[in-house]
Amino acid sequence: MKIFIDTANVDEIREAESWGILSGVTTNPSLIAKEGRDFVEVVKEITSIVDGPISAEVISLEHEGMVKEARELAKIHKNIVIKIPMTIEGLKAVKILSSEGIKTNVTLIFSSAQALLAAKAGATYVSPFLGRLDDIGMEGMNLIREIVTIFDNYGIETEIIAASVRHPMHAVEAALAGSHIATIPFNVLKQMTKHALTDIGIEKFLKDWEKVPKK
Ligand code: E4P
Repeated sequence: MKIFIDTANVDEIREAESWGILSGVTTNPSLIAKEGRDFVEVVKEITSIVDGPISAEVISLEHEGMVKEARELAKIHKNIVIKIPMTIEGLKAVKILSSEGIKTNVTLIFSSAQALLAAKAGATYVSPFLGRLDDIGMEGMNLIREIVTIFDNYGIETEIIAASVRHPMHAVEAALAGSHIATIPFNVLKQMTKHALTDIGIEKFLKDWEKVPKK
């Protein structure tokens, strides 16, 4: 499973990139707003840090507007992927953009029916939101499992991005379910590096090392 980082914060992206674990980046309007910077400027900077798919989201609700925004964003860099909301207008935009060779990530997917339609329209990626389903008392991971099964059944090439990841077990379970990608916030990536026994082990090795005779 590939790991993307789910943030628009360039310091976090730079740090995670230095760990050698990143294959891409996803942003959304809320993440961009948190940075208090110009959208295009942030996206451009991200393309200079990570050499992989970088999702930038459109805000128009009609397909004509989405396509117009998408064409402009796609000019920024070859790695830009256009994030399109899962609506009928979004599907129309995906159809047009995919015929132009512009990559899309259909976002706000909450059912496997939505994922199937997005894939049929030509989406490069679909982003089912795990955490937000968990928040309303549903089992978000079941959605990933269903989409993996459906896409496998028909050899659908659209890649699944497990999104709205809230904790390390979301990432582990998404990998077990066969998700192609998980997009993970920086704080969760940091949590994934940790284990109490690792810290205890390092402490013990260093203590024992003190007993090694030094010349
Ligand atoms: C996906 O690409 C979204 O940016 C993201 O995962 C949303 O997560 P949230 O539910 O934590 O806002």
